[in-house]
Amino acid sequence: MFPTVTALLVFFLFACYTTLASDPDPVQDFCIPNTNSSLLPSSVGSNLPCKNSSEATPDDFVFSGIKTAGNFKKTGFSAISVNPMLFPGLNTLGMSFVRADLDVGGINVPHFHPRATELAYVAEGKVYSGFVDSSNRVFAKVIEKGEVMVFPRGLVHFQMNIGHSPATILGSFNSQNPGLQRIPTAVFGSGIKEELLEKAFGLSARQISVMRRKFIPIP
Ligand SMILES: *[C@@H]1O[C@H](CO)[C@@H](O)[C@H](O)[C@H]1NC(C)=O
Ligand SMILES: *[C@@H]1O[C@H](CO)[C@@H](O)[C@H](O)[C@H]1NC(C)=O
Repeated sequence: MFPTVTALLVFFLFACYTTLASDPDPVQDFCIPNTNSSLLPSSVGSNLPCKNSSEATPDDFVFSGIKTAGNFKKTGFSAISVNPMLFPGLNTLGMSFVRADLDVGGINVPHFHPRATELAYVAEGKVYSGFVDSSNRVFAKVIEKGEVMVFPRGLVHFQMNIGHSPATILGSFNSQNPGLQRIPTAVFGSGIKEELLEKAFGLSARQISVMRRKFIPIP
């Protein structure tokens, strides 16, 4: 009897833990944020007030902003992150997505999403794509148009266009606010004390300042 109760308790606690590990379940069909609200936050949290559902229209559930690529940055990369700030219909649904484009030779620098697993579908092109697990093992290979790769939540991942034409990737996330930390910027563009970086990487003050200038935050 007692072991059964203990086992149930353990199971229940585990179930609670896994539930708390993702976005909260919605308590209504949808919640189009009321953009007139004075409570409008600067982030993409799910605590936005909803507009009256009788005022929702089909357009609230359609997003047309990823028909074309954004502008390439120096790294030959462009991304349009579609979260509830850009596409209010996603609010409270626990999902978001991204359109990423890579110019020939372009890269998506090593980065991670603290709050979401990502499924990356190659819509066009050929990319070297992979992630690193917490034992520093790399899982990487070349994937082509029509293939999908999964990047487990919180793990560092990266991509490079190795084809002869631009590549397009559609990524979807199991959080409406996956978060994004780029490793180079987090380390060299964040204002960590230089002395610590010198010791961490075994580099001179001059080498660290060169790295710093390269990785001022990407807007
Ligand atoms: C927001 O405010 C504008 C102007 O005050 C009004 O026309 C519109 O109906 C409001 N929208 C909502 C969703 O309350
Ligand atoms: C929502 O709109 C409907 C129809 O206009 C109205 O009957 C209802 O009272 C509204 N609900 C709220 C909470 O304002």
